[in-house]
Amino acid sequence: MLTGCCDAERIEQIAIDTNMFSVDEVGCFDKMLSGFFDSSLADHRWFVVEDSRGRVIAAANDAPEPFADRMGNLYSIAVVAEEQGRGLGDLLIEHVERELRSRGDAVARVLIVEASSTGQYVRTREFYRNHGFGKVARIRQFYGPADDKVVFWKSLAESAQRVTSVRKIAFRSGVVLVRGSDNVPRPPLMLQELQQFP
Ligand SMILES: CC(C)(COP(=O)(O)OP(=O)(O)OC[C@H]1O[C@@H](n2cnc3c(N)ncnc32)[C@H](O)[C@@H]1OP(=O)(O)O)[C@@H](O)C(=O)NCCC(=O)NCCS
Repeated sequence: MLTGCCDAERIEQIAIDTNMFSVDEVGCFDKMLSGFFDSSLADHRWFVVEDSRGRVIAAANDAPEPFADRMGNLYSIAVVAEEQGRGLGDLLIEHVERELRSRGDAVARVLIVEASSTGQYVRTREFYRNHGFGKVARIRQFYGPADDKVVFWKSLAESAQRVTSVRKIAFRSGVVLVRGSDNVPRPPLMLQELQQFP
């Protein structure tokens, strides 16, 4: 079970390395993580994928959107560069959606996710569209003078999942079985939810 500062540091490092945030902006991300661990952000959830050595290689975080009606926000999702494109992002986003659906529509109806409009995030925006998110809003200059915020929206009632042509990942009870590009099975990974300090 994962708890504590080392996981937080590792997740923060992944966020910086994948350019989700610059080192200057990471303070906000830091507050989200520390708020989770000190329970001041108790409604946030963090899911991580660990490799066979227990090293976090991917993470995602969602929480209910304040002032909204049963709407979740996928605040962050990131996979270490060397593992990108192997289905871990698919696994995490589908897991977040599944978890939200399991709570029923009295709790969660809609999931949103936000991305930068810049060229650097073309594939990220494509990733969300491939997962059935529709672009619903654009807030000009949100992240900077030439950097808008694009908001993607998905109804959790419509459970259409991305259809992947080759699925290299199988997932059961937290264990993730992955095949390498050579089709040889790799050591199993683990997907788990981070726990707050007791
Ligand atoms: C976006 C991200 C989470 C997707 O996870 P992933 O494990 O790389 O993606 P998957 O293997 O599950 O799915 C692959 C699809 O994701 C998209 N994708 C986005 N970025 C990608 C990348 N760097 N490498 C490969 N695929 C990427 C493509 O649409 C791809 O589809 P394709 O295989 O048909 O080309 C991951 O690439 C990442 O961490 N990117 C940097 C951080 C980021 O942008 N986070 C979101 C902040 S808003």
